[in-house]
Amino acid sequence: MLQRPKGTYDLYGDDALKILYLKKIINSLMDKYNFKYFQTPIFESSEVFHRGVGETTDIVSKETYDFTDRGDRNLTLRPEGTAGIVRCFIENKLYAEPMPLKAWYFGSMFRYERPQSGRNREFSQFGVEVFGCDDVIMDAEIISIVVNLFSLLGLNGIKVNINSLGDKESRDNYREALLDYFKPYLNDLCDDCKSRYEKNPLRILDCKVDSDKIVMKEAPKIADYLNEESKNHFEEVKKYLDALNIDYIVNDNLVRGLDYYTHTVFKVDADIKGFGSQNVLAAGGRYNNLVETIGGPKTSGVGFALGVERLLLALDAENIDIAECQPLDIYGMCMSDDERPYLLKIVNYLRLNGFNVDLDYSGRNLKNNFKHADRLGAKFIIIIGEEEVKNDFVTIKDNDTKEEYKIKLDEIIDFFDNRISEE
Ligand code: HAM
Repeated sequence: MLQRPKGTYDLYGDDALKILYLKKIINSLMDKYNFKYFQTPIFESSEVFHRGVGETTDIVSKETYDFTDRGDRNLTLRPEGTAGIVRCFIENKLYAEPMPLKAWYFGSMFRYERPQSGRNREFSQFGVEVFGCDDVIMDAEIISIVVNLFSLLGLNGIKVNINSLGDKESRDNYREALLDYFKPYLNDLCDDCKSRYEKNPLRILDCKVDSDKIVMKEAPKIADYLNEESKNHFEEVKKYLDALNIDYIVNDNLVRGLDYYTHTVFKVDADIKGFGSQNVLAAGGRYNNLVETIGGPKTSGVGFALGVERLLLALDAENIDIAECQPLDIYGMCMSDDERPYLLKIVNYLRLNGFNVDLDYSGRNLKNNFKHADRLGAKFIIIIGEEEVKNDFVTIKDNDTKEEYKIKLDEIIDFFDNRISEE
């Protein structure tokens, strides 16, 4: 039997309804913040991610799905959304528009990781990116989007972690300190970390292999290397988060697995008893050099992405059901094949007038049709026989009260409007 690839999943039933509902809530929240919806390709030229996410990150060095197409182009399935949105921003010269530009997106990402609960090879992210805004208020607003979304969904068990990686000068100083610190311990580190030492020592700090070693725990902290400007930036972030009444902890081990961050970084964890190890629900931060790195004019950026599957797991763990079932207003059936064209005409007319309508496709008998209408949860049933076709009317049965009505065709919209919109 053919099976789906490892680390992917099929979406149907209640889970599919939950995603639809989530998209609806996100769309309306994004309208409130005046963000605009963006959609970029699921694959990009590989260079977009090599330059954007960073050659030395695990994502690019170990986890991308790379392929060449029939024209020998090097392409990569997007492992994250930011680099593609930045490429779009530059290619379409969106920097010429009034700033800030506030974008949101929702879609599949691909990472070749070891699958487990909350970690898939194809997964969905809801993300936002803001360009051309240096105001620190934006760092706090971005975090507030995640917090407000969770609060709209009724999810309380979350923990906001923040840190600052500072500007380039602060990071350069910190880099020097890490090189000095790790030099005598190089033999104790894994092979990957040895190569990270050469290329990007900050990456050593998010090594999953060495994370428990004392040498990692006692490594210098970025907070001690922030210059005045970077310290002020971070203090302002905290001030605005306080103004928004957002609880957070300062986590000075937070460096994040992507190369592009400057100043604020944050992650939001599920703080739910018994929740699996993949508990980071959303993460992001500021990236003031990324647009330039990918080939655009110097423009600041800030954003986050939220793992949709992990959010659904967190909602399940808290027994919050967001599956929103669309009610079926009307079910249509006829007494014989001769009436099918008339039934189809009425069903189409009702749908165009805003009702949710299904019909009998398999010529069931009356009893089985009533049973099926019940199974579908139909509020009303319309029954078409020879008489109805001849005299242009419809027999309608209220599936709750079991009352029957004979309604002329030109009155059925009023009939249903009065009964269905009343609820
Ligand atoms: P990230 O931390 O790599 O950041 O991913 C963001 C979120 O995507 C994670 O916190 C997690 O919830 C979810 N996620 C990541 N990998 C997987 C996976 N294999 N399976 C399920 N969920 C996963 C970024 O992607 C950045 N682009 C965020 C950003 C936007 N920063 C600035 N703007």
